[in-house]
Amino acid sequence: MADSQNNNKYYPKNIGIIMDGNGRWAIRNSLKISEGHKKGVGVVRDIVEEAVKRGIQSLTLYAFSSENWQRPKREINAIKRLVIEAINEQVPELKEKKVKLKFFGHLDDFGEKIQNKIFFAENETCFEEAKLNLNVALGYGGQQDIVDIVYKVSEEVSSGSVNLKDITKETINSYSSVPVDEIDLLIRTGGDKRISNFLLYQIAYAEIMFIEKFWPDFTNKDFVNCLDNFKNVSRRFGKRI
Ligand code: IPE
Ligand code: IPE
Ligand code: MG
Repeated sequence: MADSQNNNKYYPKNIGIIMDGNGRWAIRNSLKISEGHKKGVGVVRDIVEEAVKRGIQSLTLYAFSSENWQRPKREINAIKRLVIEAINEQVPELKEKKVKLKFFGHLDDFGEKIQNKIFFAENETCFEEAKLNLNVALGYGGQQDIVDIVYKVSEEVSSGSVNLKDITKETINSYSSVPVDEIDLLIRTGGDKRISNFLLYQIAYAEIMFIEKFWPDFTNKDFVNCLDNFKNVSRRFGKRI
């Protein structure tokens, strides 16, 4: 247990969230799966607002994994529509709050319409000094990201623009599609205790909190509870302190 001297006392700077449980929430409430995803988007809005209020530096959300392409076409189409709807509805508000939006993952797979929307949303919110960096993983998989990094760095090495001996942890970060280098707190809702191919490289020293509630039931109070619990954690990073 952390003793009070070792408590880290601060809120996490960089938070990742695996927003899981939309489907089960819908089924439990006798609704269509797409209704669960829709409710989930509403929760994102509330949590973003809370994160801005609490001075969090970045929030990185798992919206759609590379493995989620294996879901029924109807569900995938509903999610695609929701992405467009969410951008249309939330960008003006994000702009007002100075929230900088960034999408990452294999975005090409989502087609031109979504890519154009994403381009618009990122441009509209491209603040030099943002209040919050909001990163959304779409068509993202941590293993594929590592494969992509290896591929890109290998190309640089063969062309001579990167020296093999100069490859460091920072090199990996700079070639990753993930906009944040290190996650301090990772939250997963929905009760399952697994990572499901989210930010594999960036969670090396993350505190991980598994929450039983389904994502659509996750409240700002639950979020603030996670932040407060983080304050009581002793982060040692391998050292004897
Ligand atoms: C998470 O909710 C959202 C996405 C994966 C797109 P799920 O749809 O996985 O919800 P459960 O886990 O089936 O309840
Ligand atoms: C993780 O949830 C992906 C997202 C929340 C976007 P999944 O529902 O896809 O993960 P598994 O299948 O339970 O591992
Ligand atoms: Mg799930």
